[in-house]
Amino acid sequence: MELHAVGDPAELARSAADAVAEAVQARPDAVLLAATGNTPMGCYAELARRRFDSSRLRVAQLDEYTGVPESDARSLYGWMRRSLCEPLGIGEERIIRLRPDGDPVLACRSYDATVAAAGGIDLAILGLGPNGHLGFNEPPTDAHAPTREVALTEASLESNSHYWGDAPIPERARTAGMTLISGARRVLLLVSGAHKADILRRVMDAQPNRWLPASWLHLHPDALLIADRAALGDRARR
Ligand code: PGA
Repeated sequence: MELHAVGDPAELARSAADAVAEAVQARPDAVLLAATGNTPMGCYAELARRRFDSSRLRVAQLDEYTGVPESDARSLYGWMRRSLCEPLGIGEERIIRLRPDGDPVLACRSYDATVAAAGGIDLAILGLGPNGHLGFNEPPTDAHAPTREVALTEASLESNSHYWGDAPIPERARTAGMTLISGARRVLLLVSGAHKADILRRVMDAQPNRWLPASWLHLHPDALLIADRAALGDRARR
């Protein structure tokens, strides 16, 4: 995994937006796999400010809470639409949704089939979970874990609760699998803030293993880690 060290969240947002714009320039109908969470929001806002042709761009959702409809403030689909799709004019027909309802196996299979029919993921935009997860690939996750429904770990429940105050966080979620993420032609892992320094150091130093799902990205041929000074801690000064 290549490291691009940046100074602060604003620079991180610009660098990530550069990588997205480059992917869209190379392929106007690129398929993005798009995380929600705080980390990519600066990148999405930066993309919205830029002028580039997003008229054919497609977006696939990374993960979703089971049983949470779009009308619910906690819906990750709703968050992705508001922060990324609507500002770029990407309508529902160009969004690949990971549905929160219905039989989980069928919903995940249908999502995988739709991504495959779209030609696979060109660029995955990912954040790093406090427990090393990618999407909701919670530890332990094998390298070839499929798109599936999972039980969230305590670490994820706790960090997710910060977003929605008193509203209870669903305990189950559906996530694009490691197989789908690893199959992306390019992966961007965005990491920002001192609260991520410890988990980022562990991921950077780890051999790929199931207890730190992000460590599987060391095996990816084109994974770029963009991390800011606070997240890099001591390494930023080397
Ligand atoms: P964050 O979430 O971007 O809000 O830090 C990342 C994650 O939990 O995957």
